[in-house]
Order: sequence, then C-alpha cells, then structure tokens
Amino acid sequence: MNTTALIFLIITVTVITVITGYFFIRVMFSGSTTKNAEGQTWTRIGLVLAMAGNAVGFGNFLRFPVQALQNGGGAFIIPYLVCFLLMGIPLLFVEWTIGRYGGKFNNHSTPFMLANLDKRAVWKYIGVFGLFSNIGIAAYYCYMESWTLAYVFHSAVGTFTGLSQAEVANVFTDYIGLRKDTFIPFEAIVFYVLCLALNIYILSRGLEGIEKVAKIGMPLLILFGLFLAIKAITLKAGENGVVFDGSMGLDFLWTPNYASIWSPKVWFAAAGQIFFTLSVGMGSIQCYASYVHANDDIALNSMSAGWMNEFVEVVLGAALIIPISVGYLGIDRVKELAELGGLAIGFKVLPYLINQWAPVIATIAGIMWFSLLFLAGITSSLAMGKPCVSFMEDEFHWSGKKSALWFGILILLLGLPTVFYFNYGVFDQYDYWTGTVSLFVFSLCEIILFSWVFGINNGWNELNRGSDITIPKVYKYVLKYVTPVLLIGVFIGAIFNPAGNDWSAAFQSLVSGNGWPFDHGSIVHMITNAALKEKLALATDAETITYLKKSMWYINGAKILLLMVFIGIGILVYVASRRRKAAGRLS
Ligand code: ALA
Repeated sequence: MNTTALIFLIITVTVITVITGYFFIRVMFSGSTTKNAEGQTWTRIGLVLAMAGNAVGFGNFLRFPVQALQNGGGAFIIPYLVCFLLMGIPLLFVEWTIGRYGGKFNNHSTPFMLANLDKRAVWKYIGVFGLFSNIGIAAYYCYMESWTLAYVFHSAVGTFTGLSQAEVANVFTDYIGLRKDTFIPFEAIVFYVLCLALNIYILSRGLEGIEKVAKIGMPLLILFGLFLAIKAITLKAGENGVVFDGSMGLDFLWTPNYASIWSPKVWFAAAGQIFFTLSVGMGSIQCYASYVHANDDIALNSMSAGWMNEFVEVVLGAALIIPISVGYLGIDRVKELAELGGLAIGFKVLPYLINQWAPVIATIAGIMWFSLLFLAGITSSLAMGKPCVSFMEDEFHWSGKKSALWFGILILLLGLPTVFYFNYGVFDQYDYWTGTVSLFVFSLCEIILFSWVFGINNGWNELNRGSDITIPKVYKYVLKYVTPVLLIGVFIGAIFNPAGNDWSAAFQSLVSGNGWPFDHGSIVHMITNAALKEKLALATDAETITYLKKSMWYINGAKILLLMVFIGIGILVYVASRRRKAAGRLS
C-alpha cells in the first residue's frame, strides 16, 4: 500500500474502532435493562445490538463499497465521514429522542410521535413517511434478503464449484428470472416466501424475538466479516499471469483526494449513503427507541449503535468485496463492474472468485459471505417490520401475531412486482422513491420539527435526560443550524441535480436561456421518466421499443402503487386519529 493511504487507513480505522469499543464497553458496564411503561423490555445490550443490526445491512457490504468505487475511492471517504458527523449523528440523536419521547405517550410509530412534538395535524401525516419508507423498502429488501438465504444454500451444496465466471453470473440471472422474459422465477419466490415467513415469525415474538436475533446475529456477522476481511487483504491472485494484491483495493479506497470536497456529486452520494446505512428517515429507530423508559439513557445507546454501524461499514465493509475483487481482477476492471452495482459484484462475481480458493475454504467462505449478508439483512428487515406491527397494535389493538402476519402479506404483495418485473426497473423505482427520496424528505421534516418547532432547548433537554455521556455542546448548534442547512442543500440538490452534476454549466445554460439541464437521476427527471423517454426516442428496433414501452408502463405502475400505499397509510392514520378523538385520547 502507498504510505498516504496506509496512514489515512490506520488513523481512520483506529479512531472508529476505539470509539466503537469505548461506547460499547460503557454500555456493557452501565445499567442493564430499559423497561418501558407497558412492560415490553429491551435488555440494554439487546437494544444496542438490535439498533446496530437495524443499521448494519446490505448498505454496509454492497452499497458502501460500490458508492466508494463510483465516487473515486479516497475521494468519497472524506465527505462520507463529514456527513456522518454532521448529518448522521445529529439525526440519530433526533430520532432516538423522538422515539423515547413518543414512547412516553405509548406511541411506537412516527405519525403520532411527531404529533407529540407539535399538535398541528400536518405532522401526523408527515409521520406517514416513517411507515411508508419501511414498507416500501422492506418490499424489495426482503426479496434481496431471500437471495442471500438461497445463496447460503447454493454455497453449501457447491452449486458454484468449477463454474466459469460467466456461468456463475448466469446462475444469478436465471435465479431472478432475468434471462427469459416469460420465465417465472419459482425458486426465487419459494425463498422469498420462506424469508418472509421467518420475518413474520420473529416479529410475532415481539422485542424478545428481535433481541434474540440481534444477539446471535451481530457477533456472528462481525466474526464472519473479520475472517473474510483477513482473507481479502492478504490475497495475492490475478488472472492470465497478472498478479494483483488484495490490498491494492485498499490503496484506491484510502488515498485521500481533497479535490472531492468541491464535487456536489460526491457529497450527494456520501449523504445518501449515510442516510441509508444508518437507517435514518425510515421510522425504525424511533420505533425501537420508543420502548426505552423515559428516564433511561439514549445518548450513549445511540452513539454505541451508530458507531458500531460505522465500524462494520468502514472497517469490514471496505475490506471485503473491493479487496477480493481487486485482488483477482485489478482496479480498472472492478471500477467497470461497479457501474453494474453492488448486487452484481456480490452475487455474480464474488461467488466465482471465492471458489478459486482451496475447496473447503471456498465452501466455508461462500457460506460465511452469504450468511453475513443474510444476518445483516434480517436484522434490518425486522426493524422495518416492527413500526408497522406496533402501529396496528397501538391503533387498532391487533395482536402482535396478527399484525406481523399482515405486514408479511402486505410485503409479499408489494414485493411481487419487484420479483416479476425486476427486468423492467420496478425494483429500482422502489429503491429510489422509498430508499432515497423518502428518507431525505422525512429526515428534513424531522430536524425542522425537532430543532425549530419543538425547539432546540426542549429537544436538547429531552435528548440529555438520563444520559450516560456528556454530548459536546457544539452539537446543539449543529442540530439547530448545520444539519438543517445541509439537509436542505441535499434535498435541493436531489431535485435539481444537473446533467453530469455540472452546476456551473447548468447555471450558464439557464442564464443563456437554454433552460436547466436536469440529470436523469434528479427527482424531476425521475418523475417524468426522462431517461426512458430519451431511450425510446433513440430506439430503432421493434424489440427494444416494445421493451421500453413495457418498462414505462411498469415503472409508472410502480409509482402509482407506491403513491397508493402512501395514501392508504394516510387514511389509516386519519381513521386512527378519529378513533383516538372518540376515545378521548389526546396524544
Ligand atoms: N441500514 C440498512 C442497510 O444499510 C437499511 O442496509
């Protein structure tokens, strides 16, 4: 490794590991339970591990490395870390506080939690985002989770042994039914249903079930991650006589590039990654925190869980797919692969590369890689399910079992279009609207509510009540000014993102009367399907035209479906609020 990269890596990894270890040890030696008024109990370690499990997910192992690859490696890390400190940590504080405060009024989902902070009806409906994101994300996330379950099985029975890279890639495309238009992916559906059944079962066992999974899952995940990371960074391999070195991937990732500080594109990517990886703006942190007693700590707990996520992402997530794939294919080829996304590398390339290792190690490593992904996935999907279960329990007095079952059925129905029409971009639409836009919008609303409507002094006092650590006072100002301004910037950027992320060219174009050149990834162009329209205008052969027209149809269908889900939740909130009024319940 080059010296600059090595120094940057050692400093960052040491700081993150020491802080994570420090917070976790303090949690272990502080009070042991966090009981809430209704008798549902987290053990303290269980709560922190469940929250960390909520955050640690595919984002850490698949999304983060690919974001880093696509955004220039070392160019990405600095904005990423700054976004963690200035947006991630403040939002963790806000969401834990909103959650614990809502729990005091026996509210466990965001619509009525937000209403606890301000009585105006609009907040209840903004709180719908905290159920909508979870449902929308779970619909495609559980599908991915089921792939990992299937791939644990395939790694164990040796499906990938002796296959060429193209054949390994075909196993995946066949599995999700991408190679033939009319093919129904039966195996994928079986594993999907199995995976949902598992989620329903655990959710129906309440906090105890979730805690048990986190207590087993998180240590195992870290153990598997460490084993694979050591293997990855000591790898010396290559193809066709070229020898690469796993640590070359680390060089790329850890050579800082200060010029990136001026690239809005890199900042958006970094902010988006922080939201997704920490699971902020989803509604799940608030739900878990609502089961904490009103006088129990949330400051140390939130930091412990949040930093643990960073340890898993920056220390382990960065040391797996990039070093392994660079160790075999070299950085240039891996950068090309990154354009296909984390899923392609994780499912199409990695099983092939791992199978180049000695047979027994290859089988063990394959099982570990996909088990690690599965554990990361299920601890997150449970956190997506719990707010929905709690909402039905709180508002309609359904039992935990019934609520969990209905959550599973809803996710299945909503997820099936991503299974059948994956090929047409439905999966990506879910990811974009629920996994990106909804998180930005909701986080922005939350910080405004917390710092400006509820008031920073109230918020700060609430956050610090019962705290086992002293939060640096500077965070009070960060919460009030810095985070809201950054979030507004990110949101405006997401709406108006110009073509090629070239803001100065975009302003020039505007001034010279040629209009604003939106990027196809901007919210405006995503609404109008501009990319697809452009492709359609350029297409000449009948097959492509038919495919694109169908895509347009399914993509619009997906958007309408998601909108209907949002409205449906809004109606449920309306009904719930009428019932509360009728019962004389004020908060
Ligand atoms: N925070 C979860 C992840 O990183 C959703 O995958």
